[in-house]
Amino acid sequence: MTQFPLDRFAGLETPFYYYDLDLLKQTLNKVVEQKNKYGYHVHFAVKANANPGLLAEIREAGLGIDCVSGNEVQCAIDNGFDPQKIVFAGVGKADWEIKLALEAGIRCFNIESLPEVEVINEIAGAMNKKATVAMRINPNVDAHTHQYITTGLEENKFGIGLTEVESVVSAIMKLNNIELKGLHFHIGSQITDMGAFQALCTRINELQKWFEANKVKIEIVNVGGGLGIDYEHPDQNSIPTFEEYFNVFHKFLELRDGQEVHFELGRAIVAQCGTLITKVLYVKEGKKKKFAIVDAGMNDLIRPALYHAYHKIENLTSKAATEQYDVVGPVCESSDCFGQAVVMPQTKRGDLIAIRSAGAYGEVMSSRYNLRPIAPTIFS
Ligand code: LLP
Repeated sequence: MTQFPLDRFAGLETPFYYYDLDLLKQTLNKVVEQKNKYGYHVHFAVKANANPGLLAEIREAGLGIDCVSGNEVQCAIDNGFDPQKIVFAGVGKADWEIKLALEAGIRCFNIESLPEVEVINEIAGAMNKKATVAMRINPNVDAHTHQYITTGLEENKFGIGLTEVESVVSAIMKLNNIELKGLHFHIGSQITDMGAFQALCTRINELQKWFEANKVKIEIVNVGGGLGIDYEHPDQNSIPTFEEYFNVFHKFLELRDGQEVHFELGRAIVAQCGTLITKVLYVKEGKKKKFAIVDAGMNDLIRPALYHAYHKIENLTSKAATEQYDVVGPVCESSDCFGQAVVMPQTKRGDLIAIRSAGAYGEVMSSRYNLRPIAPTIFS
């Protein structure tokens, strides 16, 4: 549970991201303890948070990195990750990004289409290298999550459709500078229904039979990420149910001898350790509503505006009787709203407000919209 150091906060300019590194360490300990039970490999999806302070802890815990851009690959290297623990996914890898990853000697490209793997083959050939690839297959599993973050369904820009697997594999086999070693899947994000992961295992088992029958040796089974967190109760459930999660794969995934299982967890590792701390600038009394206008905006945390995502909002200063507020930012867009009808102690100018569970896809998705500055980060 995060305890906020209010004395320290008192002297600081707002808004800022506050990271509870103790909670991150506890979360990482749990991940490591549970994954080690089965010898699984976890690559942290750095798209969720690329803050060097967090990456240092993640590296110390021995996790690898899952990247989706050349700059993320570079970031992983700059932060001391072993290139052999870096995987690189993404539907639109540019030539320079492919070169950078080959130069660095990453473990695996997760390839998403035939044209892409043909380009990787060409670039690898020119560099006199071989690229190890895992083929991202679209398993057509419904993750029962938000429409914008569902990725595993058939009609999707991601991955290779089930009906194309055969033709893509035979085309890859003809490429001299490509070694197909793995299968890659990712069905979506913020998934709390373990049945979706069980369904993924079933689909992988079916596919593995096809690969075995066709004598294509698979060494890596990468099941992606997507484990969700409890946005409603960040204190009661500050560490996700890693035990239950890894156990689903242990129970339902049928592996062949020597196969490695890779995971790409982002949100589940870092979401709960991050909080956006902001200050109330004005309380505006509308006709029916009260607005708490805060000094953080959608440029600092875009999830509520972009996905209507829920983040728990707390008043850290006031202990007065509760009232209801729409908590809004200063950006010139009606969608710059962190929460509607938020019940919190009576609020006044200067109160500190915590927007919880903001450690994943918060800081990293911030922008300079309205030319607002990028919020700094503070560690526990
Ligand atoms: N692997 C792949 C191929 C992915 O596309 C993603 C996330 C992950 C792993 C990590 O997923 P996680 O364990 O974090 O769920 N910005 C959105 C989330 C977008 C997720 C994109 N892909 C949000 O704020 O909810």
